[in-house]
Amino acid sequence: KKILILNGPNLNLLGVREKGIYGVQSFDSYYESLQSDFPEVELHYFQSNSEGALIDKLHEVGFSFDGVVMNAGAYTHTSVAIGDAIAGIQTPVVEVHISNVHQREEFRHHSFLSKNCKGVILGFGLDSYRLGILSLIK
Ligand code: DQA
Repeated sequence: KKILILNGPNLNLLGVREKGIYGVQSFDSYYESLQSDFPEVELHYFQSNSEGALIDKLHEVGFSFDGVVMNAGAYTHTSVAIGDAIAGIQTPVVEVHISNVHQREEFRHHSFLSKNCKGVILGFGLDSYRLGILSLIK
């Protein structure tokens, strides 16, 4: 199975940014553990701070991959365009968040993505991604 992990803005700073919320591990080192945990899965990874680049990537993989695990970062709460891109492709997308956004500011409680996603996993730290992959390979 081919699965893309798609990270949005500021997630390149994992392990550096707001450690109390997002933890101390870099995504690169977490990604290595994912690759060894799912040797049967062809994992791909892409991160961008640009909304358009994330949309282009969804279009690129959205008719051939088996799933996308997406953390759109703050675009989750602002981007009608990413929500529309998810609705427009065939590949199922699982929305993930590291933090429990419902315990945080009101503006993080709404997602423009969820309605068009297969499901949403949040609040389990980096393991939200692992659970996202599991939900796609079952
Ligand atoms: C996040 C939650 C968002 O509200 C925030 O803007 C992020 C990360 C998370 O993984 O918890 O950048 O998506």
